[in-house]
Amino acid sequence: MISTEVFKNFSYGVYIVGSKENDRSVGCIANSIMQVTSQNPTIAISINNDNYTNMCIEKTKMFSISILHEKTNQEIIGTFGFSTSKDNNKWEKFEHLQVENLPVLKDSIGYVICKVVDKMQTKTHTVFLGEVIEADMLLNNQEPMTYAYYHNVIKGKSPKNAPTYIEEKESNDKYVCDICGYVYDGDIPFEDLPDDYICPVCGVGKEHFKLRKDND
Ligand SMILES: Cc1cc2nc3c(=O)[nH]c(=O)nc-3n(C[C@H](O)[C@H](O)[C@H](O)COP(=O)(O)O)c2cc1C
Repeated sequence: MISTEVFKNFSYGVYIVGSKENDRSVGCIANSIMQVTSQNPTIAISINNDNYTNMCIEKTKMFSISILHEKTNQEIIGTFGFSTSKDNNKWEKFEHLQVENLPVLKDSIGYVICKVVDKMQTKTHTVFLGEVIEADMLLNNQEPMTYAYYHNVIKGKSPKNAPTYIEEKESNDKYVCDICGYVYDGDIPFEDLPDDYICPVCGVGKEHFKLRKDND
């Protein structure tokens, strides 16, 4: 038997993985990132085969990692984690640097730039192994965002492409954001929220919330 419940005890961070398509910067949110070695530092990332970013890493053999912090603007996670770079210039909305010709978020704890040296294919994801060619700190005064913080404090969700996605079952009628899947669970009834209420995860307006009936 495989109880996926136990997987919830793995610890992760929350990052933007960036890459390039010709001159255009692309990227997506990823939590599945780990340091594999410290000498000749090497990093492994797991990226869904359907993600546009995957194809760009495959082509350029390069990727960047921006380390997000607890106060990261939620619109960043909404944009990079719940929409595709295919038809969206995600980076142009947020201040960023170009390091080794790869995009890095200015408002991040630091960055790592990698050159792909190997890869491994699963049915749904590619694990890219990247040799670090540059890395530096940007902010010293922020706490790195952990995946647990994202779930427990921000109450953020994971889309289907995240390796850690688990289908959730809610038991009551709830208002659900149709962009990122955030489920409103505040004390004020959803209907009574002000018109300028925005989704705390992806930043879209109230009109994007749909009532999900218990038996939907
Ligand atoms: C918190 C969070 C963690 C995620 N982790 C991963 C991950 O580790 N690997 C992955 O392939 N996608 C992950 N995703 C999903 C991608 O960010 C998402 O599918 C994105 O829209 C892909 O964008 P792209 O098509 O521009 O590459 C995650 C999303 C969120 C919100």
